Parts: sequence; C-alpha cells; structure tokens
Amino acid sequence: MGGLSIGRVALVNDPAAIRRVLMDNTQNYHKDWLQRRVLSAGLSNGLLTADGHQWRMQRRALAPLFARRTVISFTAAMIDVAAAMVERLKSRDGQIEDMAVEVTRVTLEVLEKTMFADGLGRSAEEIRVAMKHYFEAIGRLDPFDVLGLSSVVPRLSRWKVRPMLRLFETAIDTIVSTRRRRIAEDPAGVPRDILTLLLEARDPETGEGLIEVEVRANILTFIAAGHETTANSITWSLFLLSQSPEWCSRVQAEADRELDGDIGGLADRLVETRAVIEESNRLYPPIAAISRAALGPDELAGEPIRRGTMVVIAPYVLHRHHSLWADPDRFDPRRFLGDAREAIDRFAYLPFGVGPRICIGASLALQEASIVVAAVLRHFALELAPGHVVSPIHRATLRPSGGLPMIVRRR
Ligand code: HEM
Repeated sequence: MGGLSIGRVALVNDPAAIRRVLMDNTQNYHKDWLQRRVLSAGLSNGLLTADGHQWRMQRRALAPLFARRTVISFTAAMIDVAAAMVERLKSRDGQIEDMAVEVTRVTLEVLEKTMFADGLGRSAEEIRVAMKHYFEAIGRLDPFDVLGLSSVVPRLSRWKVRPMLRLFETAIDTIVSTRRRRIAEDPAGVPRDILTLLLEARDPETGEGLIEVEVRANILTFIAAGHETTANSITWSLFLLSQSPEWCSRVQAEADRELDGDIGGLADRLVETRAVIEESNRLYPPIAAISRAALGPDELAGEPIRRGTMVVIAPYVLHRHHSLWADPDRFDPRRFLGDAREAIDRFAYLPFGVGPRICIGASLALQEASIVVAAVLRHFALELAPGHVVSPIHRATLRPSGGLPMIVRRR
C-alpha cells in the first residue's frame, strides 16, 4: 500500500508518507504547476495558489475570517438561504428536481450573503451570470485531463472565460471601492461580513494588509474554492441519505428537535447530521485528489521520489482503503460519532487536506452543509428519480455525473 509510481507521478496512500508531504517536509513539496495553471485565471495572488511569503502573510491575515466565532455569526444567513430553498421545493412537491442544481444555488447564495451582506449592488444579475459562466468553464477542466498539454490558459480563453472574468473583476472592484468608502465614512455602520473583514485584515506579525489585487483574487478564490465543493458535499450527503432509511429518520429526528432552538449553538447540536456529512466526505470527497510537485529528491514509503515528480494524494482512494477502514465502501456515519471519531488516523481522512495548507473554509463548509441537509430532511422525503443511476465523475471536483434527479415529497 506504500505507493504507486508511474514515471513522474506517485500516488501516495501511506499515512506516514502523507504526513511527510503535507506536514513535515512541506518545503520540498509545492502546489504543483498543473494545479496553479488550471486555477491561475484570476485566482493568482489568492490564498489557494499563493506561495512563500505571500501565502504565509495572507494565511495569518485571513485566519480571523474563518474563525469559529465568525463562522457562527453566519448561521442566520445559512438558515435564511436554506429556508428559501425549502420554499422553492415545496412549490414543486412530488416533481423530479435536480438537487445538485438546487444545492449549487444555495452555496452561491450563502457565499453572496456572507461575503457581501449588503448585496451585489445594481449589477447583481449581470455578476451572477458572469460568475456562472466562469465557473462552468473552470468546472469543465479536470487537472488529470490536461496532463501533458502545454498550456491550459489558451483553452480557458477559447471558452470565453477571459471576458467573463474581466466583467466579474470590474464588478468586484466597484463593490470593493464602494465598501472602502463606506468604511471610511461610517466604520461602525458597515456590515461585519467577509468583505469588511478582508479589507480590515492585517498580518498580526507584520501589520501588513492585502493589496488591491490580493483582495480581488481572494474574493474570487473564496467563491471558486467554496461553492462547488460545498455543493458536492451536500449533494452526496442527500444521495447517501436517500439510500439509508435509518439515517434519514435519524437526521429528520435531529432536525425536528434542533432547528428551532437557539441559533448560536445550532451547528454544535446537529451532531448526527454532521456525522452523515463527514461520512459522505469520506465516500465522495469533493476534492478527490491533492497534488504537489517534489522540488528535490526524497523518499516516501520506502520509494525514491525524484525531483519534479508529481505526488498525488487521493482522498477518494485513501478513504476507501481496506487497510485503513473497516468495510470501507459501506455508508456508516457511526464512524464519526464519539470515540470512533477520535480513533480515526489524522492522515487517513483528508477531505479538507492537512498541514499548513489545510482548507481554511472547513468549518464554514461543515456548518453550512449540516444546516442545509437538516433543513431539507426536516421538510422532505427524498427518493432518487426512478431508473437514475448515480456515478461519480471527476471534473475539478467529484460530482455525480448527470446531477442528482430526485423526487422531493413533503413529509
Ligand atoms: C466541503 C467543502 C470543501 C472541501 C471538500 C474543501 C477542500 C479543500 C482541500 C482538500 C484543500 C487543500 C488543498 C491542498 O492542500 O492542495 C482546500 C484548501 C482551501 N480551501 Fe477548501 N474545501 C471546501 C470548502 C471551502 C470553503 C467554503 C472555502 C472558503 C469560503 C474554502 C477555501 C479554501 C482555500 C482558500 C484553500 C487554500 C488554503 C491555503 O492554501 O492556505 N474551501 N480546500
């Protein structure tokens, strides 16, 4: 199980070797060029693709944006967005709906509300359309499809991403400058959303703030890194629940009991729902593969690694490995409850990565997914559309090929 090395690609499944790549010897493993190139349109200078000093400074400065207290302050926005989806679905009682589409709308709306609490301004619809096209084009790229191609950027421009990106960037610049003006005029009156926090962010070590291109790149980064991943996590959870009457009832009971209580502690009370989401992230990790380029030679799980090797850590493979998990293909959220959760090897379960570059939005994503899944289950019984076969496809993220058509019936 140590690893498989084909030419210059090494797939690593050994937890100790994973620890070495992502935590103990990170100076030898950089986010690889492929990943950077795929993501680079508009995202360079953002936290996901930055490196070295720029990354360290940003990571320290941006930590408070995703801290527990901040994420809890987003609960009300998440509940509102979920409630609006429930209302839409109620009006289509008994019909077949593509839940993947519904849920993607939800995650974008949550980002919109948590990032720009006072809205997108006059050009809201135009921005949404530009964003949709931009992410659709990016979503068509699979890093593994383009192995060996000299450049992805021309393909991006062929798909008319660039004009969309420009429109999107201009709109964001307007929103940012409007907000800067408001902060200057009335600091106490501006919403405490991600945008304000981003503009106020300072590296605690140097006092340095983000420059304009970094602000814009991070707005794009949060949307790019946060919306489709979280949507897939929710979509897969709904699929798995539709196959498990036991867990449907458990989540329904928890939703009935907890959703109307105090919203401050809501995320902490959705214990079983969260276990379902964590189990779903195990079976269908939205980021199915994490990759790094080796800057120099190394040894991983007894195998020599040459300079330039692309090291791939694939949560999809790791999370279903027979030597690491009992009955790995079985959906069993009990793995993530109580002591069982504590017993999971930190380097065998990586839906959000591990080490210094671990996902900064993990608790936001888990909280959002728990709230949305609980809200859906509270009101609806889920049934996969008759005859539809669900199978995963890897296109930047791991999603169900052909979406998730479901008959959604009011409980
Ligand atoms: C279920 C949902 C999510 C999953 C599965 C996920 C997964 C990941 C993974 C695996 C990484 C590490 C990649 C690597 O090491 O190469 C990562 C990094 C990152 N994620 Fe997430 N993510 C999710 C949601 C979010 C959200 C909601 C946001 C922000 C709003 C976000 C923002 C980021 C950023 C900025 C990074 C780069 C961090 C750094 O390099 O310092 N993610 N994510």
